[in-house]
Amino acid sequence: MLDDRVRAVLARLEREDAEERERGLPPAERSRQVARTTGQALFAFVAPQTDCEVLEIGGSRGYSTIWLAAGVRYFGGRVLSLEDDPAKIEAWRANVADAGLEDWADLVEGDAFETMPAIDDVFDVAFLDAEKDDYEKLFALARTKLEPGAVVIADNVLSHEETLGAYSRARHEDATLESVTVPLDRGLEISVVLR
Ligand SMILES: C[S@@+](CC[C@H](N)C(=O)[O-])C[C@H]1O[C@@H](n2cnc3c(N)ncnc32)[C@H](O)[C@@H]1O
Repeated sequence: MLDDRVRAVLARLEREDAEERERGLPPAERSRQVARTTGQALFAFVAPQTDCEVLEIGGSRGYSTIWLAAGVRYFGGRVLSLEDDPAKIEAWRANVADAGLEDWADLVEGDAFETMPAIDDVFDVAFLDAEKDDYEKLFALARTKLEPGAVVIADNVLSHEETLGAYSRARHEDATLESVTVPLDRGLEISVVLR
């Protein structure tokens, strides 16, 4: 649900992101959060689903998590977010609490390459937004937790086409998926698991 608490935290994170970009902070010190319209698209994906289980790889300070968690609050579900940067983890926890979404989102701390294999759950939606060089390996790990009908959404496939063009091509060539590159903001690769 997009209530006033959620909207206030999203607006603050958007202001902070804009200020940090203006100050020219290096990417590692910024939230590197998705564009607002990508957040809205994530919300639109999950809000109509019943008991929607979401895996987020790359939670940062919680901006995309908050869109996803606000979405799953309509018909049930949960967001499991993976993040390994201690400063981002602290901010994620504070922001998700400020938004009143602690019951809808959990954080798994640590390197996703180590934490993901230990997660037994099956997910309906996976959102991939970590380091671009790792997408292929992170996708492979997430793929083991997805059943037919699940969706993988990967961000930055057009803004980082030199690195992630191969990711999109591999998804398009995979007969177990139906995959489309959507030119929204930095580019989303949306892959539906067929079998
Ligand atoms: C682009 S940012 C994510 C932005 C976030 N999805 C949002 O929109 O608010 C990528 C995040 O992934 C985290 N990350 C990168 N590699 C990781 C890994 N192997 N395990 C866990 N977190 C990782 C980084 O610390 C960073 O915070």
